[in-house]
Amino acid sequence: MNITSTVSAYRARRSCMSVPASSERFLAKARELAVDEVMLDLEDSVAPDAKSMARELAVAALRSGGWDGKLVAVRVNGASTPWAYQDVIAVVEGAPGAVRTLILPKVSEPGALVWLDVLLGQVERSAGLAQGSIGIEAQIEDAGGLVAVDAIAAASPRLVSLVFGPADFMASIGMRSLTVGGQPEGYPFDAHHYPLMRILVAAKARGLQAIDGPYAKIHDTDGLRAAAASAAALGYDGKWVLHPAQVDIVNEAFTPAAQDYERARRILETYERATVDERRGAVMLDGEMIDEASRKLALTIVAKGSAAGL
Ligand code: GLV
Ligand code: MG
Repeated sequence: MNITSTVSAYRARRSCMSVPASSERFLAKARELAVDEVMLDLEDSVAPDAKSMARELAVAALRSGGWDGKLVAVRVNGASTPWAYQDVIAVVEGAPGAVRTLILPKVSEPGALVWLDVLLGQVERSAGLAQGSIGIEAQIEDAGGLVAVDAIAAASPRLVSLVFGPADFMASIGMRSLTVGGQPEGYPFDAHHYPLMRILVAAKARGLQAIDGPYAKIHDTDGLRAAAASAAALGYDGKWVLHPAQVDIVNEAFTPAAQDYERARRILETYERATVDERRGAVMLDGEMIDEASRKLALTIVAKGSAAGL
């Protein structure tokens, strides 16, 4: 892929806001927020007795629109629940063309994605949509999912991202913490580094985006900033947000710094001039040797920065 197509194909998912679809108030509020993606949640933020009501509210919210510029996603219930297939059929047939991706939670083996891929193919046909038009984002949120993450990342051509689910993951491995996305007391290093890195590598090996999960302590802005900065530095594309107060912090963390963006552009220009005009594979820029690998590093920053409007 050349520079222009790589940069224009990149779609920002810096802030991904999860909104319980059972709340009309939150659904209305989410339309006003500067998030890159909004996720209408039918899963864990909705009580079992409210599932079918949430489904109806989600369809109504999708049909009434007003999501200007945001990626619109719906998190359906997990493949092993009694609600999952009806969630998929209701939202795709109820609001054809309104959903960009479905988020499948608790993916612990590739078969769950094969199931969703086949069902989506059927429902797209019945709703008059192009085959493959709806993407899938898979949440990796238990020990089984992490062990199978490479096979999961390869399970469907519809996949656009792998998403870390810290709450369920922490519970699944017995991590001694009650704060979702936070660090457990008593462990001196970053307790989330291993799953984050594992998911990131599996995602990038397949050209997928990698999205970090939520940080539940809404008023701990320093903790959120640190968690977001660390995921962004590793290579993550974005992070979930649960509250309007988290949006700006997360958008900022996943937007390249202006000076990095400018430098990345200079690397691309300098490198292109060197290779095309001078037929050289390596060249000096401000005392640093740049080559093809530098071009790739710079391209990621330019793609992320351009998609963020720099
Ligand atoms: C999100 O679904 C999580 O479990 O953190
Ligand atoms: Mg979860």
